[in-house]
Amino acid sequence: MTELVEPSERAVTRTVKTQRLKCSDRATHVAKELIVSGEVVAVPTETVYGLAADATNEAAVAKIYAAKGRPSFNPLIVHVGRHSNSCAKLLSQRLLDARTLSDAATCVSDRLMKAFWPGPLTLVLPRGEALPAVVAGGLATIGFRMPRHAAFLDLIEASQKPLAAPSANRSNRISPTTADHVIEELGGLIPLVLDGGSAPVGVESTIVAVNHDGTLTLLRPGGLPVEQITTVARAHFTELQIPLTDKPAAPGMLKLHYAPSKPLILAGAGLTSELAYKIGRLSGISRIGIMSFGALPITLDGLGLDKDLFSAGKIIQFPADDQLVASGLFNALRELDHSDVHVIVAELPSQRAGGLWPAICDRLSRGGSAHTGEF
Ligand code: TXA
Ligand code: MG
Repeated sequence: MTELVEPSERAVTRTVKTQRLKCSDRATHVAKELIVSGEVVAVPTETVYGLAADATNEAAVAKIYAAKGRPSFNPLIVHVGRHSNSCAKLLSQRLLDARTLSDAATCVSDRLMKAFWPGPLTLVLPRGEALPAVVAGGLATIGFRMPRHAAFLDLIEASQKPLAAPSANRSNRISPTTADHVIEELGGLIPLVLDGGSAPVGVESTIVAVNHDGTLTLLRPGGLPVEQITTVARAHFTELQIPLTDKPAAPGMLKLHYAPSKPLILAGAGLTSELAYKIGRLSGISRIGIMSFGALPITLDGLGLDKDLFSAGKIIQFPADDQLVASGLFNALRELDHSDVHVIVAELPSQRAGGLWPAICDRLSRGGSAHTGEF
């Protein structure tokens, strides 16, 4: 049986008292005081909850990496406020590097910021000198995003600082979409969680690198559909096939990510005999948790599994609606992870293109690769 607690988690000491405050002006003030004193605060965003700190303060940024157990080479996204909505404004705060930012990159970035900020789009651009190398995991570039959640925007503006914020989960684990999830992940490790309810989008931002020649490269499918970006960008869009690998060509492409602690196995049409073989090879497995999308639920029969040997412990069925699936996906994975099932089987949606489906398939594939290797 797979152990429920990762070996690395056993060594974590959770001694900090974690306060939880519903979003309000007072809560923003408490959070701001922590941020300006170099602390970390978990915050709601429209995508997933983030763990924020002053991006210009190296010691504060180091606390983010420590609380998450995140490798130092994996860069953070820098979140900016309502007034930082153009390259000129980012340049004036020295967040962007004027020497390496080309006119072509400026032109396409400004167009994208105008169309999609605030919102779930991160733009990777040349890093300016106000941002220390640790925020970027040593890279010369940095991802920028203006989040849509009012409480987070208010906090950025009250702090008068750009805020670095990765998802507020322990490294490689499922991203949090509620304050409860954050407490589960980081309780005892951080001083404050701002509770802004469920994150409405439910998957992280779409990350796009803006190249020197003004072309764009997709680094992570996410909460903003790629087709909307291409329509506005009017630039050549190089869609990178992101490899699932242990040796990433760029950080953030690690194969193991978004993983529940139980084995997650992906099922798709034509995979059933292979699936039954894989499940049969895991010892001590009898109760199966199932996640499916669309009208036809996955059944044990349909999966080629013998009903005398296996039972369906918990079934979560989503309608074939990408926005509903995205907003409930991480919560469903957590529920299955906490239930008494031994293994989670998730259907890979039959529709893989358009809207939020690429982000959904990406998260399922990376969560599944922890235990199956080949997905
Ligand atoms: O929606 C989101 O993007 C959330 C919320 C909190 O804003 N944030 C988030 O951050 O998902 P994080 O750190 O969990 O994921 C950011 C990903 C990482 O995989 C990181 O490697 C990649 O973005 N990334 C950040 N900066 C990069 C850069 N300069 N070049 C390549 N990849 C980068
Ligand atoms: Mg993350």
